Amino acid sequence: MKSLVNTPFLILFFLLVVSQSAFASRKTINPQNPCKRMVLYYHDLLLNANGTDVDNSTSAAITNPAKLGNNYVFGKLIVFDDPVTKDQNLHSPPVAKAQGLYFYDMRTDFTAWFAFSLIFNSTEHKGILNIMGADLMMEKTRDFTVVGGTGDFFMARGIATVTTEAAEGIKYFRLKMDIKLYECY
Ligand SMILES: *[C@@H]1O[C@H](CO)[C@@H](O)[C@H](O)[C@H]1NC(C)=O
Ligand SMILES: *[C@@H]1O[C@H](CO)[C@@H](O)[C@H](O)[C@H]1NC(C)=O
Ligand SMILES: *[C@@H]1O[C@H](CO)[C@@H](O)[C@H](O)[C@H]1NC(C)=O
Repeated sequence: MKSLVNTPFLILFFLLVVSQSAFASRKTINPQNPCKRMVLYYHDLLLNANGTDVDNSTSAAITNPAKLGNNYVFGKLIVFDDPVTKDQNLHSPPVAKAQGLYFYDMRTDFTAWFAFSLIFNSTEHKGILNIMGADLMMEKTRDFTVVGGTGDFFMARGIATVTTEAAEGIKYFRLKMDIKLYECY
């Protein structure tokens, strides 16, 4: 009998606990208010097909395009070890390296998929940001996700908004990366 009397209290208690944890896990993130923001420039210098410009290259095609779709190099995969600078100048001292890959992944237009690490090893920052996302080149700006980090960027998460600022044939392109972190520890 006693336990029956207590049942409504138990239910009330249970509901309170559940609603508390539901509220606790809901965080509001203001896109306009990142905990850290960095604007950096990514420079990609692609080795030409005959490999004659090794000294002026930081990336290379690893696969040939598949014969699928006509002119959008579907399946071409590029691995890069690219300099990252604080301003638009390719020849400025790099503040980080971008190491990873992109491949072309659409049959009817130019789009690519990026996955890379931004590796910082300077007096200002030591650590890594891991970034990935769809490069929908028909859009002026694209959002990659910062999926994690180490070192100074321990457990970081956020958005890297990229814009193509310059392109010289297939040899060179520059991306402006506006990196906004919303989790900083
Ligand atoms: C190598 O290929 C590039 C185009 O990718 C061309 O401009 C250049 O003349 C070629 N060089 C030689 C030595 O064939
Ligand atoms: C390498 O290529 C880039 C892009 O085309 C160019 O701006 C730069 O001057 C070149 N550097 C050398 C040493 O040829
Ligand atoms: C970082 O820089 C230091 C000092 O220049 C160097 O000894 C170390 O090997 C570098 N680490 C990496 C991962 O590049």
